[in-house]
Amino acid sequence: MKDRDEGVTITAYPNGPLIVRGDVTILDVEGRAIPRTRRTVALCRCGASTIKPLCDGSHKLVGFCTEEPAGSS
Ligand code: FES
Repeated sequence: MKDRDEGVTITAYPNGPLIVRGDVTILDVEGRAIPRTRRTVALCRCGASTIKPLCDGSHKLVGFCTEEPAGSS
């Protein structure tokens, strides 16, 4: 039996989404599979997407930043 996580990677892009590559099933809170048409999918982590959990590019419009502003630490 093939391991579901085989070859799956998740990359956190600076100021952007989580890019998921590989054969994974993404479920909604009810446990229903979210349809995928590609092996690579972008998951929103800024909260602004209109197609959550997928990224729609809104992170650019809202100025999502993954790095702390200079002098904040
Ligand atoms: S990370 Fe792209 S819309 Fe949220």
